Amino acid sequence: MKSKYPKIFEPITIKRMTIKNRVAMTPMGTNYGETSGEMSNRHMNYYSLRAKGGTGLIILENANIEYPVGSNGTSQIRIDHDSFMPRYYQLVENLHKNGAMVAIQVNHAGASASSARTGMETVSSSNIPTKAGGEIPRPMTKEEILTTVKKYGEAAKRVQAIGFDAIEIHCGHSYLMSQFISPYYNKRTDEFGGSVENRLRFPKMVLEEVRKNVGPWFPIIVRISAEERVPGGNTLEDTLEYLEYLDEYVDMYDVSCGLNPSLQYQIDSNFLPDGWRSYMARAVKNKFKKPVINAGNYRDPKVVEKVLESGDVDIVGMGRGLIAEPNWVSKVQNGEEEILRKCISCNVGCAGNRIGVNRPIRCTVNPAVPEGDIYKKLKVNKNCNVVVVGGGTAGLEAACTAAEVGCNVFLLEKSGKLGGLSTFISDLPSKNRMKDFPKYLEARAKRLKNLYVFLNCEATVDKIKQFKPDIIVNATGSVPVVPPIKGTQGKHRSRSCRYHFRDDSESKSRRIPG
Ligand SMILES: Cc1cc2nc3c(=O)[nH]c(=O)nc-3n(C[C@H](O)[C@H](O)[C@H](O)COP(=O)(O)O)c2cc1C
Ligand code: SF4
Repeated sequence: MKSKYPKIFEPITIKRMTIKNRVAMTPMGTNYGETSGEMSNRHMNYYSLRAKGGTGLIILENANIEYPVGSNGTSQIRIDHDSFMPRYYQLVENLHKNGAMVAIQVNHAGASASSARTGMETVSSSNIPTKAGGEIPRPMTKEEILTTVKKYGEAAKRVQAIGFDAIEIHCGHSYLMSQFISPYYNKRTDEFGGSVENRLRFPKMVLEEVRKNVGPWFPIIVRISAEERVPGGNTLEDTLEYLEYLDEYVDMYDVSCGLNPSLQYQIDSNFLPDGWRSYMARAVKNKFKKPVINAGNYRDPKVVEKVLESGDVDIVGMGRGLIAEPNWVSKVQNGEEEILRKCISCNVGCAGNRIGVNRPIRCTVNPAVPEGDIYKKLKVNKNCNVVVVGGGTAGLEAACTAAEVGCNVFLLEKSGKLGGLSTFISDLPSKNRMKDFPKYLEARAKRLKNLYVFLNCEATVDKIKQFKPDIIVNATGSVPVVPPIKGTQGKHRSRSCRYHFRDDSESKSRRIPG
């Protein structure tokens, strides 16, 4: 059968690596690592699920090449010593078995490290913190720069020996390489600062050393912040100029965006459209004639196909999209688009945990991160009736989960439609993405023959008793707070009240059609 999305499923070869489709999981720190810096079992499972879900290329989260000074996060993975190799080997073997190609992003955090964790001063090109209020770093000495170059080379040698298919060098997002490349951070006056050539000297030495260690046929990917979007930072035009100093070592560019002070463009805010940064990838590709990866709120397969077809992008990068939906590729391939659990770019469960409070990542729309839906195997062994009161997102998730483990589920919703507040709030243009979540839940619910939905149905005690419940789930949600500000009490308030206090005189039992 002809695929609806032929471009997504077209293989691509970069040097000796052939990727079966055009979807790459971009590197994302998880905080799942052991405190030793080794990969944990949780890690193994998390990445395996994304490989099983059909992802073509998985680029592992940033791994530290120089410990402790280059550390990033509480439980970051490390690649600065041979002792870390056996675990990576297991992972790579596992992901290969599931059909994915595997790369790893190697990195030195520079001023983004934390002295409280490393027990030493943070280092950078100059003394500029990576964000306002951040730690003030110490400029690196020339000897330190030379040591770090060697460390990158040693890490690259390990990457190749382990059996990874490619290596990604992180040159963006306010980490050490970017702290030298960007005039926003680099205020040096020696041969590593000032002119473009000088600012690029250290990253160029790193790439040269990496190439020396991996040989000519091993793919090197370079991740950049093509537009830094900070005052005095690199523009796209500047990037096209500075890449001339790196290009001879690069096989593919991973065109990202933003620094720490412009995080909303790096880990894209929800109001930014799917694939909004593809013009940056096109500019890099046009100039250097090399394949490009590009991430940034890609969630909709139609947009992914279109961008690939246009040739702006060769591989679509998906970060949070694959946290929320590990089976994005296989569902698209199997025509199950309506049950794609699309990331809503809320940055609460993932970035909020990992970057905000240094905890392991979770996902607002997918409670089964990181374990996966193993709960589905735990079927109830006797008849169990569950009444869920409230058809918002929490009620729907609870109802679907209960039905998936074999309960008879009766969901009672007072209003005439499902989705609750999230449907209402997502009418705001900047919150539009949130609509995807109730839409997905409703589609998932429709597929469950043992889940019965009653709309316009107020859950009185008598009504609930009719279902002889073994379990009652109260998911009546919340009522929006309307601040006592003049002008907010009119139409806006009456609309939310109408929604919440509708009478159920027209209540009728209704199974979701389909
Ligand atoms: C929790 C989290 C951790 C991230 N860690 C990294 C990282 O280690 N290296 C990196 O280059 N980008 C990192 N990113 C950025 C993603 O790779 C990706 O570029 C970004 O989230 C935008 O793509 P998306 O909209 O598909 O998520 C991280 C993003 C998130 C949400
Ligand atoms: S927590 Fe929010 S932003 Fe992160 S993956 Fe889940 S839905 Fe997306």
